[in-house]
Amino acid sequence: MEKDLNGAMQSMSINSSSGSAIVNGCCRGTECIVSGKLSCHSQQQQFDDCSSNLSNSQNNGHCVACKCGGSTQSADETDNVRVGTFGNSEVGGVANVTSSFSYKSTSAQQLQQLQQQQQQAQPQTPLPPHANASIAEKRKMVHELCQQLILTDEQIRELNYRILHEIKRGLNKDTHAKADVKCFTTYVQDLPNGNERGKFLALDLGGTNFRVLLIHLKEEHDFQMESRIYAIPQHIMIGTGQQLFDHIAECLASFMSEHNVYKERLPLGFTFSFPLQQLGLTRGVLSTWTKGFNCSGVVGEDVVQLLKDAIARRGDVQIEICAILNDTTGTLMSCAWKNHNCKIGLIVGTGSNACYVERVEECELFEGADNGKSHMLINTEWGALGNNGMLNFLRTEFDDEIDRHSINPGRQLFEKMISGMYMGELVRLVIVKLVKAGILFKGQDSDVLMTRGQFFTKYVSEIEADEPGNFTNCRMVLDELGLNDATDEDCANVRYVCECVSKRAAHLVSCGIATLINKMDEKHLTVGVDGSVYRFHPKFHSLMVEKITELIKPDISFDLMLSEDGSGRGAALVAAVACREDNIKTK
Ligand code: GLC
Repeated sequence: MEKDLNGAMQSMSINSSSGSAIVNGCCRGTECIVSGKLSCHSQQQQFDDCSSNLSNSQNNGHCVACKCGGSTQSADETDNVRVGTFGNSEVGGVANVTSSFSYKSTSAQQLQQLQQQQQQAQPQTPLPPHANASIAEKRKMVHELCQQLILTDEQIRELNYRILHEIKRGLNKDTHAKADVKCFTTYVQDLPNGNERGKFLALDLGGTNFRVLLIHLKEEHDFQMESRIYAIPQHIMIGTGQQLFDHIAECLASFMSEHNVYKERLPLGFTFSFPLQQLGLTRGVLSTWTKGFNCSGVVGEDVVQLLKDAIARRGDVQIEICAILNDTTGTLMSCAWKNHNCKIGLIVGTGSNACYVERVEECELFEGADNGKSHMLINTEWGALGNNGMLNFLRTEFDDEIDRHSINPGRQLFEKMISGMYMGELVRLVIVKLVKAGILFKGQDSDVLMTRGQFFTKYVSEIEADEPGNFTNCRMVLDELGLNDATDEDCANVRYVCECVSKRAAHLVSCGIATLINKMDEKHLTVGVDGSVYRFHPKFHSLMVEKITELIKPDISFDLMLSEDGSGRGAALVAAVACREDNIKTK
């Protein structure tokens, strides 16, 4: 018997584990960090402490005392004249002046006088405001600045409400056009039933890499997969649509030739992980680009047709495009292949998005004929939440800055608070602010730290993978950033910033998932998850389990299942399900 999306359920238990040990019990600070007023006294923060062996950072961090040279930069014009009497010395710091002094007739006493005059006459580059604060004060200030990244229960409740509201607006025909969360119909109405067999091609476009896959579905749960990754150069990501699809067709042809299927006409599933207004399983019009792509001439077009045209322009390979799908759909399908209880697909990677199983009567945009099927996969495209100001009550100065410098300002605001494309940069912006205030690294920055995009999201995972009190990875990351003089306290503070940013992301995602779980109101369900942030961040999974458990109705249980290559195998499965004999009639 065919299983539709409402198919058999298996009982699953909550895979619960406790969250991280950070306590965010601090009062919500209201004072500006740079003003130095500390308003945050309510609870002692628990913290991965490392206060032993800390060097005393009480000195004023300039001149000979610390040799940092940071605040003893070149003299002004007047003093240069005088300094000129010392020859060609670079005036990078008093120590330098002294060592390069060679003017024989100047005595040590004269030199001292000159130095004193210099110090009195020239204004010193002011130290960053908090460079002299104590370790405890600095820590408090870091916590205070990060307070805005910590979501209160009340904010989470409000967010839950807003997400649900937007989902309903997305599903509704009359409000869909204005809704942030579009809730696109996917035309996927069947889960795999385990009888899918055969050879399929899959294309996976959605991040900086593009993949072609050859998947052989064999016995139940047995499959063979070969794949190859092709880079999408930056100029193609923002070039013309024709260039993009020609590139895809070229990669596909070369892959087929390498794998000796050049002459075969294989069914293909195309994972295209961008917002698509689907008009059928093999028709999808791009609404907008996301994640750094911006190829001209594609928005408003059917991307399946663009791919077919590119293949036809080459004229050398033959394929049958059986389905176009989102990566969330692929993720759900690949998990559902093994676990029929899987009803939500989630991605937390370069972007963030979720799809879920909805009752067909709720899907007002579905215009297909009544085929007797009761459910439909809905691609929420929740990354766009906030486009209409819905998230302003949560967004911080750092989120604003990320958005201002992005390729798509004002759009994908929820995604920009969560996903891997932005997480590292968010951390960098907080760190830069702390450095400028003198709270981190005695106010010393580095060129790499000051460059946009140079604090990679993988650093967040690496730093948080250190055992509490150990900063091995953190120091490696800081070294890569050219920050070699960090104290243990600096490392602890950097780690805290990472924790706040990643924890906020996990809580935002959890809030979205809890909203879906409560809406679906099934007693047990599995969420299939994929994406680099979820996969590689050491605490993302447990943070999510903890938060979702807190937010869902008490009689519901769930678990999070890591998807094995949803975008690849999922695409083959959607193609396979579409080709299943029982579906050909209803296509
Ligand atoms: C972006 C895309 C969405 C995709 C997600 C994860 O949000 O718009 O379609 O699912 O990234 O890759």
